[in-house]
Amino acid sequence: MEFKFTEEQLAVRDAARDFAQNVLKPGVIDRDIHAKFPAEEVKQLGELGFLGMMVDPKYGGGGMDSVSYVLAMEEISKIDASTAVCMSVCNSLVCWGLETFGNEDQKNKFLAPIARGEKIGAFCLSEPEAGSDATSQQTTAEDKGDHYLLNGTKNWITNGSSASVYIVIAQTDREKGHRGINALIIERGMEGFIVGEKEDKMGIRGSDTHTLIFNDVKVPKENRIGEDGFGFKFAMQTLGGGRIGIASQAMGIASGALDVALAYSKERKTFGKEIHRHQAIAFKLADMKTQVHAARLMCLNAASLKDQGEDYTQEAAMAKLYSSEIAQFVTTEAVQIHGGYGYVREYHVERMMRDAKITQIYEGTSEIQKIVISRGILKD
Ligand code: CAA
Repeated sequence: MEFKFTEEQLAVRDAARDFAQNVLKPGVIDRDIHAKFPAEEVKQLGELGFLGMMVDPKYGGGGMDSVSYVLAMEEISKIDASTAVCMSVCNSLVCWGLETFGNEDQKNKFLAPIARGEKIGAFCLSEPEAGSDATSQQTTAEDKGDHYLLNGTKNWITNGSSASVYIVIAQTDREKGHRGINALIIERGMEGFIVGEKEDKMGIRGSDTHTLIFNDVKVPKENRIGEDGFGFKFAMQTLGGGRIGIASQAMGIASGALDVALAYSKERKTFGKEIHRHQAIAFKLADMKTQVHAARLMCLNAASLKDQGEDYTQEAAMAKLYSSEIAQFVTTEAVQIHGGYGYVREYHVERMMRDAKITQIYEGTSEIQKIVISRGILKD
């Protein structure tokens, strides 16, 4: 299958590339060192429409397709994977979930400000005891008639302290198992909602990852997404699309590492010639290029299926699995090509290698992707 991009898709890619090169690149090393969230940069990204790219323009979004989203995610991730995960969570997990399953009031009140770039969203599923095993939610949303009483703790929440709108998955009726789970919209400032500790991470250090605590938070019933008990299916379907975003992030990190390594191999000389003229380096570059190309096609394929309204569950899981695996290989090879320079911050590739690791863990570990893929095969 060949992808011929439309002029509009190419314009989106070019705008994301300009933004990444001119706005994100200058401060990316400093933000990594100081674990600083790119607040000003994300604000600008939102103003350009990149936080709600696929949202219908009537809710303030860009009305773009998922293929454009993959192209933009690659460009942002090539330069700054921390900004990219903020963008992915806003687009895939929060905006898509609200637009697809929210009611009109929820879309106007919660979706539109994110799509317009005025607010940031967060998706809160993981808990100390429920990361991969998503049905084991310990956070409870007790039904109190006109409201839910929310209690519990969520861990590793992306955009934890910078978001204003949080989608929280919680158990209402334990006897009903996953059919007793709800998805609730929580606003910053609700009484009893505490933003807890910030994680000191190995990679994506500019991303704002927190523990969130809910102590008797009164959540109005109108903040529930979908019917009572729809929360688990909401989470599964939303994560399915989110995997296209994280696959593209992983592929983008790898693509960025390849660019940096290729440029370096043309400058650096050993034994009297540029290092790319040594077959040992040229073969590494060939392997890296092949893997990035394959990962890109897988991301675009999953996105294209989504745009056509086809089932993309398996394709998104395969794209996420493969892209995150090759991101390890490609970034490690990029460090190797740089030799000693690759091990210091200034050359970017050591950060890319650290950033790549998380893509095998969040939005479902590689093992979770294999569960989704193998179940799909057995169903076929
Ligand atoms: N779409 C719709 N429904 C789905 C579905 C999907 N893709 N996947 C499962 N379901 C439904 C099933 O049909 C089933 O419903 P019924 O009983 O009514 O038929 C129900 O959900 C339960 O399904 P399973 O029995 O398959 O559930 P399971 O307990 O075996 O778990 C799993 C399946 C795939 C392992 C799931 O738990 C999972 O995806 N876990 C990983 C969660 C995850 O990605 N966590 C990351 C947190 S978010 C994050 O990282 C964001 C960030 O910050 C970047």
